[in-house]
Amino acid sequence: MRVLSGIQPTGRFHWGNYFGAIRQYIDLQDDHDGYYFIANLHALTTIRDAELLQQLTHDAALDLLALGLDPDKATLFIQSDIPEVSQLTWILMTCTSMGLLERCVAYKEKKEKGIAADAGLFTYPVLMSADILAYDSQWVPVGQDQVQHIEVCRDLANSFNHHFKSTFVLPEARIVGSAAKVPGTDGEKMSKSYDNTIGLFEELKPQRKKIMRIQTDSRPMEDPKEPEGDHLFQLYQLMATAEEIEEMASLYRQGGFGYGHVKKALADVAERYFAPARERRQELENHPDTVRDILKAGAERARTVAAEVLARAEEACGLTAPKPH
Ligand code: TYM
Repeated sequence: MRVLSGIQPTGRFHWGNYFGAIRQYIDLQDDHDGYYFIANLHALTTIRDAELLQQLTHDAALDLLALGLDPDKATLFIQSDIPEVSQLTWILMTCTSMGLLERCVAYKEKKEKGIAADAGLFTYPVLMSADILAYDSQWVPVGQDQVQHIEVCRDLANSFNHHFKSTFVLPEARIVGSAAKVPGTDGEKMSKSYDNTIGLFEELKPQRKKIMRIQTDSRPMEDPKEPEGDHLFQLYQLMATAEEIEEMASLYRQGGFGYGHVKKALADVAERYFAPARERRQELENHPDTVRDILKAGAERARTVAAEVLARAEEACGLTAPKPH
């Protein structure tokens, strides 16, 4: 099974990125053919500072490797190292209706807020479709917020296949129910744009402070509470052991405890959960050349696949003459 996903280097990664997406990349890398990339072309729609984009792209590679992405098992690369994807984007753009893009959430939200959107943001789902289709991807592990974009990708692939001949594989989104929409410090979806994130590699002290400030409801301590639907409990569940989860759930149901207790327990399990990745990251920081080599080798592998798919698409729509069989 060919699996592919991308992640934007628009800031340091947070718990939502990890539990919604990155953990799936790692879980799938043993038994599947994984392609994972740092979406720096997409990041250009928000970051307009060359040095910062370079830094965040490098950080993203370090983070992914430290979290357990293994370059011997999966292909890790930078989006802009594969120019075939941009070429494919244009071809797909000619099969994309304006209405389809107007309905896409990222663009719609900005427009509704009165923020000027550029053509890059508007056509963002077409570039994302090219990312997916260029590798004949079958599964795309993502969080809930990306599912609409994968539907767009299927629409575009269908439209191209219908106009010309069957060229593209139709991908499917892969989401993990319990982590498809990880809540942030305000209980809404964790997102860089809502300023409610908890960073994966944040310094421990400020991270703990942030966790202690997570918003909760104001029910009295004595009241028994249902753990389901409580965002603190939801976060705790992602990192605690089965036994710890059971214990915490019965504490909720009994009542007589404060949210401060849960927050402290959450900070403890988070620290324990990510300790090995923090250690690996420190090691990797001392080997920038190794990281560069991994990305270079990944780009070479990825380009070979993308070039083949692009050639197929160019032939199907008449940009190149059919090859004699
Ligand atoms: P991005 O960079 O916003 O997010 C990367 C991944 O993290 C997931 N995610 C979450 N999952 C659960 N709960 C959350 N609170 C949460 N926040 C973020 C996202 O769903 C995503 O899987 N357009 C994509 C990048 C991209 C891409 C692609 C993805 C470009 N090309 C091709 C898949 C295939 C994006 O902006 O993700």
